[in-house]
This record gives sequence, C-alpha cells and structure tokens, in this order.
Amino acid sequence: MNEKFIIQPTGPLHGNIEIGGAKNAVLPVLAATILSGQNCTIQNVPNLSDVEYMRCLLESLGAKTDWDKPGGILSIDTGTVTSCKADYEWVGKLRASFLVIGALLGRYKIAKVSLPGGCAIGSRPIDLHLKGLAALGAEVEHSHGYVTVAAKKLTGAKIYLDFPSVGATENIMMAAALADGQTILENCAVEPEIVDLANFLNSSGAEIRGAGTDTIKINGVKELHGTTHSVIPDRIEAGTFMVAAAITRGNILLTNIVADHVKPVIAKLKEAQICVEELENGIRVWHDPTQDIISADIKTLPYPGFPTDMQAQFMSLMAVAKGTSIITETVFENRFMQVGELKRMGADIKIESRSAVIEGIPRFAGAQVHASDLRAGAALTLAALCASDVSEIRGICHIDRGYYKLEQQFNKLGAQINRVCDE
Ligand code: EPZ
Repeated sequence: MNEKFIIQPTGPLHGNIEIGGAKNAVLPVLAATILSGQNCTIQNVPNLSDVEYMRCLLESLGAKTDWDKPGGILSIDTGTVTSCKADYEWVGKLRASFLVIGALLGRYKIAKVSLPGGCAIGSRPIDLHLKGLAALGAEVEHSHGYVTVAAKKLTGAKIYLDFPSVGATENIMMAAALADGQTILENCAVEPEIVDLANFLNSSGAEIRGAGTDTIKINGVKELHGTTHSVIPDRIEAGTFMVAAAITRGNILLTNIVADHVKPVIAKLKEAQICVEELENGIRVWHDPTQDIISADIKTLPYPGFPTDMQAQFMSLMAVAKGTSIITETVFENRFMQVGELKRMGADIKIESRSAVIEGIPRFAGAQVHASDLRAGAALTLAALCASDVSEIRGICHIDRGYYKLEQQFNKLGAQINRVCDE
C-alpha cells in the first residue's frame, strides 16, 4: 500500500528522543548468526522494514526466528538452516541481504546469492567482497544473476581492500572467522558498525582483534556458539534528529546515543552556529535565537569523516543557512537525488560534478515531493518541517526502511505529520 506524509509547517521542535538500535549494525549481526548454527538473542533491535526483510531471508534459509518488536529482542536459531541459497526475492528487496554470503561461506564453504544490483544512490559493486572471499580460497562463479562462492576449505590470508568498504569488511570478517589460520585485513572499514559486528562475533567465540582500526586480525576458530548481543545506537538516526532540532530552530535532548559516533555531525553543526552540549544522559542540540544558522562546507568520507548517510539531511539545513556552502559526495556516485526535490521546495542548489553548491534561502516553500531513497526521504521530511506551508512526501516506504514511524517521533516533538494512503 502506497502511503505519503502530509506535513504542516511546524514551529521549533522541543522534547526528548531516545535513539534506537543501528540499522547498519543489526543487519550484519543478523547475517552473522548463521555462523554458529545455534541460538542467538539480539537486543536493541530497531523495528524497521529492512530488519523484517533480513529476518525473512534467514527464515527462507531455514532458520527459526522470534521477534519481540516492542521489546526490541530478536531470537534466531540457525541450527535449522538447510539452504545456502539467498534468492533474488530477498536480495532484490534488501541489498544488505548480500551480507549472508560471507557467513554461509564460512559455515558451509559454499553460498549462492543473488547479485544485489545497483540502487538509487549508485552502482554498488561487490568486487571487493568477492576479491576478499577469493583470497580466502573461494572459487567465484557468476551465472544467471547469481554469484556462487565455494571452497574445499578456507585459509587465512593477507587482504588489502582497495577501498575501506563497510560491506566487504563485514563479509570477509565473517568468512575468515571460521577459516584455518590468520587473516589480516588491511585498509578495512573502521565504522562503529564494524566494531559492533566484531564484538558480536567475539562473544560467539571468534578471535578478532583491531576492529575500529584500519587493520583487523582474525584468527580462525573451529566453531562458534550462540550468544546474546545488544546492538549499538543508530548514529544516523541520531544525526537526523540533531539536524531536526537545528532546522526547526528548536531544542531536542537525544538519549541512548554514543557521542563519539556522531563527532563529525556535531562538529559541522557547531560550525553552522548550532548549539550542541554533551551531557551525562545524552546530547542536547538547540538553536540560539541570537545567532544565524550559517553555511558550512561538507565532504563525505568513510568514518570518522562526515558520513555519506548524513549528507542529504545536512544539505536540507544548508539550504536554509546564511551564505554559500559546498557539499562534496565522495563515497557514492549518485547521492544527490534529493537536490531536484529540494529545488522544487525553493532551494537554490547547483550540482557541479560530485559537488553541490548551495546558496541559503530564507525558507522552504511547501510542495509535493517524492523520496527516492532512505536518506533523501529524511532530508525532504526535515525541509518540510520548516517550510512556509504544507508539503506532501510520497515514497515513504523508503523512509520506513531506516526510521521507525518517523512521523510519530517528530509529532512527539511538536510536528504535525499525517501518514495517509496515497490514492
Ligand atoms: C554501508 O553500505 C551502509 N549500508 C550504507 O548505508 C552506507 O552508506 C555505506 O556503508 C557507507 O558508509 C549498510 O551497512 C547496510 P561500502 P555498503 O561498501 O557496505 C564502493 C543507508 O542509508 N565499493 O562502504 O554497501 C561503493 O561503490 C545505507 O543506511 C566498491 O567499489 O557501502 C561505494 O562507492 C546506504 N566495491 C563505496 O565503496 C565493493 O565491493 C562505499 O561502499 C564495495 C563497495
């Protein structure tokens, strides 16, 4: 059923928001439960459609799951997994399904997974994933839109990633956990979600050291066991609400957040003259009415640089900041999909190659817009919150992939968003 948001102009947002578990941490952890073949209990699981798709994929492989959505607890028994084939039906719905290939290869020494294909933000190749799995001893074969990886045995290897790919780091780490010998993964991703996955695997009996640095050492073990793991908070959800406080000139206290994980966003908000205070119980973000919101330049980079997943949301803020800002997207080749829609709301943005030049305007005008992807949808919602009149946002199924009932969360803070059927 297609739904849309109808968003009335809102005043400053005020109140407290508790940040949920990280989508991009829980998805690889769920894939990694395949490795032990035992019962795992995952806590702080966000109630997102992407998590539902991953749960369904695991069940399609034969796993048994039980999801207490209100409690955020997802139990998975992968002892009953009988299939090593992840169908297009699931990978087509959720790109991150490709993260099961490393775990299936690690446990069964064979995996057949539908190629994930591209998406709105880019071609999303998987060459680094496959190069790493091949280095561990897997034969790689492509046919009819599927890739099959198989190995008599997996042997630890020294692998250098041409780019610190998050997904490739995760897939290789999972396969190497049950390989013979040591794997040294160099120039790997250092995102907090990598650390969370390593912590989950180590709590299952893996021997992984160095997660969070650009070199991870994995000593393969014979087998892993079930465990209980609580997922880290979602730094991108947190960043989105921080921008919401700024763009509506409000005052929001965010709790259940790791300040370290949102350092680049805090730095850029302060550069834009937004007030941010790290407290014992969270982070408060507010706008000082005596100060203008001013422009700040952004270049997206792998962690700990400014996250690409916050680029669109920050662009909405810069579109109504004082002055000219330049946002350069270095991670994905097509992640300015929100620009056209923001311009329909009155934004003054010019794209020059991988940069967007933004001239601040006093205020967005309401409009009917369409969300092309998850973070573009969040950016349009932020723009609509501070527009001069009503807006409609279609394609909110993209938003539901990464935010739980976003309209309810904003309405608790004083917004007026209705979710209605899109006739
Ligand atoms: C993860 O995607 C996240 N998804 C993305 O979040 C996030 O934007 C991205 O990391 C970067 O931080 C999940 O964790 C589920 P990458 P991933 O491999 O792993 C190139 C969201 O909005 N590359 O680090 O796919 C690739 O083309 C989503 O929550 C290769 O060239 O990201 C891209 O330019 C969107 N070859 C760059 O690396 C490869 O084999 C970053 O990709 C793999 C990647």
